[in-house]
Parts: sequence; C-alpha cells; structure tokens
Amino acid sequence: MTTEQAEQSIAPRADFAEESSVEIVVDSFARTPDLRLKQLMTSLVEHVHAFVKDVEPTEEEWQRAVDFLTDVGHMCDDTRQEFVLLSDVLGVSMLVDAINHRKSAGATESTVLGPFHMVDSPRRELGANISLDHNGEPCVFAGQVRSSDGSPLPGALVDVWQANGDGYYDVQQPGVQPGLNLRGLFTADAHGRFWLRTVVPRYYPIPDDGPVGKLLAATDRHPNRPAHIHVIAEADGHTPLTTHLFVEGSPYLDSDAVFGVRQSLVRPVTTVDDPLRAEEYNVANPFRLIEFEIVLDPLTERHSHAN
Ligand code: BEZ
Ligand code: FE
Repeated sequence: MTTEQAEQSIAPRADFAEESSVEIVVDSFARTPDLRLKQLMTSLVEHVHAFVKDVEPTEEEWQRAVDFLTDVGHMCDDTRQEFVLLSDVLGVSMLVDAINHRKSAGATESTVLGPFHMVDSPRRELGANISLDHNGEPCVFAGQVRSSDGSPLPGALVDVWQANGDGYYDVQQPGVQPGLNLRGLFTADAHGRFWLRTVVPRYYPIPDDGPVGKLLAATDRHPNRPAHIHVIAEADGHTPLTTHLFVEGSPYLDSDAVFGVRQSLVRPVTTVDDPLRAEEYNVANPFRLIEFEIVLDPLTERHSHAN
C-alpha cells in the first residue's frame, strides 16, 4: 500500500445513504489516472443511481435485470452479439452513430452496420449479378459516388450486402443459399459510377430467438427491419461511409426495430423502359432500377488525425 492509499484508508468514509449515494461512489473513483475513464465512471454512476432512485426496483426486479443481462451474455459467441442487438433496439447504436458521424449538409447520412457484414465481400466487376440464388425480383442497383463539392470520385470502393427476396442473408442459411450470395465489393469507374445486378430485398426480423427478442415481445414491439441494401463507400481523402439504401414502400419504414431509417436514404424501385440502358446493364428491357447517389465528406483535420 502506498503512503497516500494508507492515509486515505484511515480517513473514514461517510456512511452510505440514499441522499449521498452519488457523491460517495463518485468519490471512490477520484484517483482514476485515466481522466476519460474517470469522466465515464462518474457520469455512469450519476445516471445509474438516478435511474434506480427513479424506478425504486424491488430486490426481485433487480435480480431479474441481472438475470436478463446474464442471458444476453450467454447468447454471445463468434457469430451472435446479443449485447450489440440490445444496444440496437434501445436506439443506442444509432445514437453513437449519429454522434460520431455528423455530416455536412448534402452528404449521405450514415446508419448502423448491423451483424451480417461478418464475411469480406468478394471483389466483383461492375455490372456483375450478386444474386446467386435468384431469389427475389431482379433489379439493377446503380449510382455515382461524389464528394460534397459535387466532383465524382473515380475508383471509389462500394461494398454491398443484402438479404434475398425471402428476407435472409446468406450466413443465416448455410446450405440453402450459396456462400457469398448477395455480397460484392465494386470499384467505381472513372466517373465515380457503379452498377450491379441484384434482387429487391425483403424486410426481415432481427434475430429474436434470444433475450432481446423476449424483451421486444414483452414490450409489444415487433422485431422487423424495412427492406434495405447495406453499403460501405470509401474514397481517398474522404470519410468512409456506412449506410443503407431503404426500399420505398417497404413495410416497417416507420417502425424499424433498430431505428436505422433516415428519410434521406429511402429510394424507389422504378421501372425503366429504355433498350439502350438495358443493353448497357446487360438486362432485358424493361427493367427495375434502384438509384443511389452517394456523397462523401472530405476528411477533416479531426478525422484524419483521429485513430
Ligand atoms: C441489419 O440490418 O443487418 C441489422 C442491423 C441491426 C440489427 C440486426 C440486423
Ligand atoms: Fe440488414
């Protein structure tokens, strides 16, 4: 024990009391050398004590809360992260995303990554068909990656993954869907343009066979996410973007279980009757099309020096 610690252990700590609980526990973290950790623990104690004083749980209720978090932990392994799912349905994942990805006006908004980007997308040529199981309505997904001043970003990387027409990702149906179905990493052309063939995805439920699913059921919430295509876009000198394209008219656009929808990301599936464009995309005319323009913010001092 250092002399300082010995002196502190001699000074009697005030008895724990409801009125002084925050002060007493915050004081126990007073010597935390890492100032950010000290700030986090201080704020956590303030908020958790305020919560407990607000709801005044019975001991049985507190034990149920502990059991719930224990169940959440037991549901986690290499392929399932129930704590992230809990953060998702509480809106905390989207709040952390919003705080960390404040955009300039006009830049494409971000949204949650989700758990299904667990394999690297295979590199594919522009125009490739990423639907290997042909389950869903065929459509072309096309757009252009630009900087916030409007200039195209040649060679931008566009990583795409999505569920099929039944609302399942390949990793959820091994042996049913081919591996790497509905995934592709594309390099935009000299004008920042990208295009690929796919299917219109269907809405789907987040994994709800664990404690988070039980919480949703107990609170009369559904587990569904509206139909969407995940996109990560990256270009030199620009802040990478993790986002989704949401399909206009999909069920659950107004009640996404993880609060990921931003109206600026909703796009229609249109029907195009244009033989020249159909030929360009190597599809039969007429064809279905989803267009998604992606605007990236240039790296700021803060971003380029962060991490
Ligand atoms: C997804 O869109 O893949 C997703 C996001 C959050 C939770 C579950 C799934
Ligand atoms: Fe998804």
